This record gives sequence, structure tokens and C-alpha cells, in this order.
Amino acid sequence: DGYASVKLFNQGYSYTYDDVIFLPHYIDFPADAVSLSTRLSRNIALSVPCVASPMDTVTEAHMAAAMASIGGIGIIHSNVPSLSQAAMVRRAKSSRVPILSNPVFASPDSRAPFDDFNDECSCILVTESGAANSKLLGCVWKRDWLNLKEREAKVMQYMQSIDSSFVCVPWNCDLAQIDGILEEKKRDFVVLEKEDGEVVDVVTKEEVERVKGYPKLLEKGSVGSDGKWIVGAAMGTRESDKERLEHLVKAGTNVVVLDSSQGNSIYQIEMIKYVKRTYPELDVIGGNVVTVAQAKNLIEAGVDGLRVGMGSGSICTTQEVCAVGRGQATAVYKVSSIAAQSGVPVIADGGISNSGHIVKALVLGASTVMMGSFLAGSTEAPGAYECQNGHRVKKYRGMGSLEAMTKGSDARYLGDTAKLKIAQGVVGAVADKGSVLKFLPYTLQAVKQGFQDLGASSMDSAHDLLRSGVLRLEARTGAAQVEGGVHGLVSYEKKYF
Ligand code: XMP
Repeated sequence: DGYASVKLFNQGYSYTYDDVIFLPHYIDFPADAVSLSTRLSRNIALSVPCVASPMDTVTEAHMAAAMASIGGIGIIHSNVPSLSQAAMVRRAKSSRVPILSNPVFASPDSRAPFDDFNDECSCILVTESGAANSKLLGCVWKRDWLNLKEREAKVMQYMQSIDSSFVCVPWNCDLAQIDGILEEKKRDFVVLEKEDGEVVDVVTKEEVERVKGYPKLLEKGSVGSDGKWIVGAAMGTRESDKERLEHLVKAGTNVVVLDSSQGNSIYQIEMIKYVKRTYPELDVIGGNVVTVAQAKNLIEAGVDGLRVGMGSGSICTTQEVCAVGRGQATAVYKVSSIAAQSGVPVIADGGISNSGHIVKALVLGASTVMMGSFLAGSTEAPGAYECQNGHRVKKYRGMGSLEAMTKGSDARYLGDTAKLKIAQGVVGAVADKGSVLKFLPYTLQAVKQGFQDLGASSMDSAHDLLRSGVLRLEARTGAAQVEGGVHGLVSYEKKYF
């Protein structure tokens, strides 16, 4: 009944996730017995197969810390100068809680940079030097500042001085420890500091209470050998990217992703070799690729992971503009079959808009899924919420959109030498989804139930079932796709948890 994958994917069609459907198999374990632990690349293990895309409306420090805290990873985008990107990596790795308050630092005799009070900044930390790496003297809370009449006043006139109400704790305390300290000392906040007294952040009771209410996934997130969150960073293949790489490595980046829409190029192959030669301990992910031949070239060059997808992203116009690409289900299946022979994990990048797509990507051979639109619009994504037609939205844009390319991302599309800029992506907005800490656990539970229906208790068993032909699948007609979605109702509310 149905088709084995090898037959379905060799008929000359380019299938998207929605085009294919698995036939159910046999269940002999509960959904909670499914393990989604996996590898991002040869040497980076994750307990959750989710990766936040290196896009400037998706992954900066806040998203990277949140993704690591639930066992996944965020790849910090490179659409900023290399020092700013390295600062984001440091920031994401600066604490062991999924919350970043983004404090601004000031000295007591400055007129504080109050324009810096934005959505993500709740307080100004006052230190001797006016910067981090310095002794803490006090702080100014956003709420106090907003009530203040005399805006020309100096910080020392209205800061809360350090006294017995300040409790400093080591930077690497986890959420449960901080919660215990706040409770025991009956405080509203704690200050995180490093061994050398450098102030890192503040964590408020309000934030801890918010996060505590979310479903608990794991005891511990993605933590590297340095005891810090595992964080990745994107880079390009230009000469100047060698300097960027150096800054990223100094900041403690655990893995770099060579960010290109067409990775099978001499530039990328040379950069893969350079990274492996210069930093043999650092994993390098190559891509994007969608064919076996492309994948083979990058594997030969020494990549530790492959990013798969061309034109499948929600904001992508590459297939329309350049007439190249591949349906994402076919691309993931084809590249995974060849990558598996060399032990190179595959990241299915783009085109994920529901938990079913994640199940399909993983079962078809990917080890992780990389998401843009699925995570954009969350609390942790960069940018402020706006109101559009009565909906709360956040901006989400393609890195190949004209707007993003003016900041430097045109190198991703190898267009940095071209006189005329051609967009391969659009600028749009996505709905407010709340915190990734809240909705990803539900998404992953749904993925586990999909695995259970297929009789796959782990990533390896899913791949074995598919390749051995035990797992059967079929292409869906247009009508079957309509039938597989909600249909025939006058109205309904889309609510999954
Ligand atoms: P989703 O579907 O998750 O896709 O929103 C995110 C992925 O899309 C890729 N990307 C682009 N592709 N033009 C493209 O052709 C673009 O402007 C663009 N921006 C991002 C990227 O692989 C990302 O992870």
C-alpha cells in the first residue's frame, strides 16, 4: 500500500511538504516516549530539532538565548558589522536564563541615554565606568524614569543606590535557582554578575513568574563545554568575513553557518576549507543546497552540516526571479539520502508553517528544521509590535528583500558586486505569536504525536523506517490537500493549544 520514498521521489516531480502525506504505521509506545534529540552538525548535539534562522527579523541575542534554553539553537544573523554581531553572541551567552532584560549601562554623572529605553530595555544599570565590566552602583527602572518630570537631571539624582535590597548572584544561575533566591530573599529582582564582578544583567520576579508559567520541556537546555548556551552565527564568503569569523570565535560562537542562497560555489568551498584549517574545532555548516551534486561538493570540502532549501521560504521569491530551486520535500529527501552516507546532518531550511511540516522534514531525512516565519512575530524576535488592520504584528522580511540588502545581506545572493540590485525576497509582517518558550513546547508535542503515528520513537528510527521502505507515502492531489485542511465550515477559530 502506498509508495516507498525511493519510488515516490524519483518520478520527476518537485514536491513540497503539502504535496506528500505519510500513511500511518504501527504504534507500540506512548507519544512521550518519542525522543527528538538530534544533531545540528557533526559535533553539536541538541535535544530539540529546532533552529532559528539567521535573519535580522528573527534571530538576535534574545531569540538565541530562548532557543538554547529549550534545547534548540539560534543562529545570529550577519546583517550588522562584525563587532555588533559578536556582541550579540556574547549577550546571548551571558546568562543561563531564557530572559534578557537588555539593560543599558550609564555612569552616575551622565544624563542617561534614555532614548535607549525601548520595548526590550527595562532598566539602566549604573556602573562606575558607565559600561559593563565595572562595579555596580545602582540602577534606574524604566517605570521610575517614565514618571520623572526633570529629564535633564543626572542619573545619580534618581538612581536606586546599591544597598541591601540588591541581591547579586552568579551569572550562570538557572531559572529555578533565581526563582528560589527571589523567594527566599523576598526580592523583586536579582543582579547577575560574573566572577570578576562584571555586571551582566538583571532578572525581575515579574519575568521569572511569566516564564515559569510556560510548559516545561527540559531540565537543561543546549549548554556547551564552556557552560554557556550554545549559539551559532552566520557569515559570508568574502575576504572580510575572515575578520568577522575571528570576532565570532572570540565571542564564543559554537558553530558558523555560511549564509548563501546557492552554496555550491567556489567562494563557499574555499571558505569551508579556510574555516576548517583555521579553527579545526569549530563546526561549519554549508549551503544552501537542494541537489545531490551540490551536497557532494560541500561534503567533499569538509562541511559539518548542510542547510537545505532554495526558494521554499515564506518570504522568498528566488524561484520566481531566478527560475531555480526545488520543492522542499524533494530537496530534503534527496540531499539527506546522500548526506547520511557521510554522517553529515541536514537542516531543512524554510517552508515550515505547521507541526506537520516539521514531522515531514524530519522523517524525510533532516536532523533539524530551520524556521523564519514560524518564529518571527514572537516576543523573542527583534523589533517592536505594531498594529495593522486591528492585528498586532511584527515585521518579517526576506534577507534578499531590497530593504534588508541595503544593510549588507546582498552578499547572501552573491549580488554584492552587481550594479543593479535585484530583490529575491519581500518585506511583510506576521501575527504576534507570544513567546517561543510557550508555543514551541506545544509544537514539539504535536511532532511527537506525528512520530508516534508513524511508529518512530526517535529520529534514527524514523530515518530507518523511511529508507528501508517500511514507511509508505503518497502524493496528495489538490483536492486531497483541501480535504486534509479544515473545510466546509462557515467560520471557525484556529486554536491549537
Ligand atoms: P520561512 O519559510 O521559515 O523561511 O519563513 C525562512 C528561510 O528563507 C530563506 N530566506 C530567503 N530566501 N529570499 C529567499 O529566496 C529571501 O529574501 C530570503 N530570506 C530568507 C532562508 O533560508 C530562511 O532561513
